[in-house]
Amino acid sequence: MRFETLAIHAGQEPDAATGAVVPPIYQVSTYKQDGVGGLRGGYEYSRSANPTRTALEECLAAVEGGRRGLAFASGLAAEDTLLRALCRPGDHVVIPGDAYGGTYRLFAQVLARWGLDFTPSTGDGVDAFRDAISPGRTKVVWVETPTNPLLGITDIAAVADLAHDAGAVLVVDNTFASPYLQQPLALGADIVVHSTTKYLGGHSDVVGGALVLADEELADRVAYHQNAMGAVAGPFDAWLVLRGIKTLGVRMDRHCANAERVVDLLVGHPGVSEVLYPGLAEHPGHEVAAKQMKAFGGMMSFRVVGGEDAAVEICNRTKVFTLAESLGGVESLIEHPGRMTHASAAGSPLEVPGDLVRLSVGIEALEDLIDDLTQALG
Ligand SMILES: Cc1ncc(COP(=O)(O)O)c(C=O)c1O
Repeated sequence: MRFETLAIHAGQEPDAATGAVVPPIYQVSTYKQDGVGGLRGGYEYSRSANPTRTALEECLAAVEGGRRGLAFASGLAAEDTLLRALCRPGDHVVIPGDAYGGTYRLFAQVLARWGLDFTPSTGDGVDAFRDAISPGRTKVVWVETPTNPLLGITDIAAVADLAHDAGAVLVVDNTFASPYLQQPLALGADIVVHSTTKYLGGHSDVVGGALVLADEELADRVAYHQNAMGAVAGPFDAWLVLRGIKTLGVRMDRHCANAERVVDLLVGHPGVSEVLYPGLAEHPGHEVAAKQMKAFGGMMSFRVVGGEDAAVEICNRTKVFTLAESLGGVESLIEHPGRMTHASAAGSPLEVPGDLVRLSVGIEALEDLIDDLTQALG
């Protein structure tokens, strides 16, 4: 079956008891046993498994083309669980030179104290990842593409080869692209990470995370940690993400179309010194993005003439673009990464420029978005 069909049906057979075409929200913690160990539907306790979460996990695996999906309470919970399942204290991990600030904070402030050693790559290119890998010692290579917030692009297939040659697994954070635009497992990645809070949920009404794994044995080990650590998605949150995924394809088409027109406005605007969007021919990752993505996505950043104060001013002036953290919802958002989403990377190798503004272009009427940005840019 094709993507759009899987997104609506995978893991979601009509309910056996009632015929309901949408999976019920199984708001339940425990399940009656018919005698000790006699489980009726395979469920015993909802941290271990819950039918609404199972529906989401099966759908996630299907839309990413993986063997197993696992749903978590947040993207960071998924990341933390994965890293503790894959690594031991003393292991080495390569992380991107640009990444979501909370991901960097997890490595630098939490997992480093646990004893995980990490090296940020010095760029998005394959050579930068090659230089950062220590063959035999590196257990995990972590890639975010496109990156948050600089929209850097990394060649997933090439870095998968590098990681595997070094005896490491490749993890790809696919949050910015979504599985509709990019399928890392088909390109050789071992594990996909999502903040389902973003495009998969799609409506800014849920916080969630996901892992999709290509290998059954590795999936068993991570699933063991999911249960043992307990940061699972609750039934209602799982249901919201499941509902969001049904419309992912049509939403992404509109996000991409609107974003391309917003880029046209920003490029050449006298108040903008640089536009960071992989769809631009001059973007250093354009060719790789064109090869591994179906379209270039709804996220972009731009640098502002006049520095940090001018960037903050623009963020404060928009009316349709809401000034808020997060991304990937139907509504357009604007933010200042240096003071908001990436404040935790200040003073680190992942610090972002102060003159940077990030946009999550929504699916509103394009004319309203263009009018709003035009007035905000002045
Ligand atoms: C690319 C990326 N990965 C991971 C996360 C973390 O996800 P969550 O906020 O759901 O924990 C975010 C959050 O903004 C993100 O943008």
